[in-house]
Amino acid sequence: MTAPGRDPVPAPAAKSAQFSSTRRQFLRGLGLVGAASVCPPLTTAATANPANAKPSHPDLEEYGRDPQPVILQINGQTHTVSVAPRDTLLDVLRHQLNLTGTKSICEHGACGGCSVLWDGRAVPTCLCLAREAAGHEILTVEGIADDPRFAPLIEAFCAHDAAQCGFCIPGFVVRAAELFLQGERMSTEEVQIALSGNLCRCGTHAKIVTAVTAALSAGAIA
Ligand code: FES
Ligand code: FES
Repeated sequence: MTAPGRDPVPAPAAKSAQFSSTRRQFLRGLGLVGAASVCPPLTTAATANPANAKPSHPDLEEYGRDPQPVILQINGQTHTVSVAPRDTLLDVLRHQLNLTGTKSICEHGACGGCSVLWDGRAVPTCLCLAREAAGHEILTVEGIADDPRFAPLIEAFCAHDAAQCGFCIPGFVVRAAELFLQGERMSTEEVQIALSGNLCRCGTHAKIVTAVTAALSAGAIA
């Protein structure tokens, strides 16, 4: 019996049928009904045609998948390392050469923490294949710290207390070293823009910019 003024409440079975019908219509609208029966299993797709299992990228065909010896010039020293075609320079620096000043942070080229000087230009090593570094001069933050030419830059970071946790600092030092090598004096605004590719989660940017501006003002590298 239905209370006056109220719609009849559907019986549970009728409610379920109504929901099922609505859901089917919704999925059909998205083109998803029957998708499971249309898509073949991945294993079937890979094995049905042997060509699907072959590497198709030209790099794979040229370099293969196995590690190869590569000669790298790092911080003025020659290193022969065993490098797989997909190994990044960041991987090789940290895990083979124990140069852990180069930080692995975003691994997407977004933070600058993994930067090194590559023929004098700051580059993010997370985006560079190690084998491509052969024949180039690589200077890591360890090499910069040991190089007396950059002493005024390192001293400026210390004098202006330009670090909190310090994790981002190697990347900033490398980028600043690139500016230092160029030997141009820059305004605070220009340094801010020049360092905008580096991120500091502690929010120490202001002190870092002050330190780099002061170092650049003090004079070009000898
Ligand atoms: S770890 Fe390479 S740019 Fe962030
Ligand atoms: S000082 Fe901590 S992330 Fe920059």
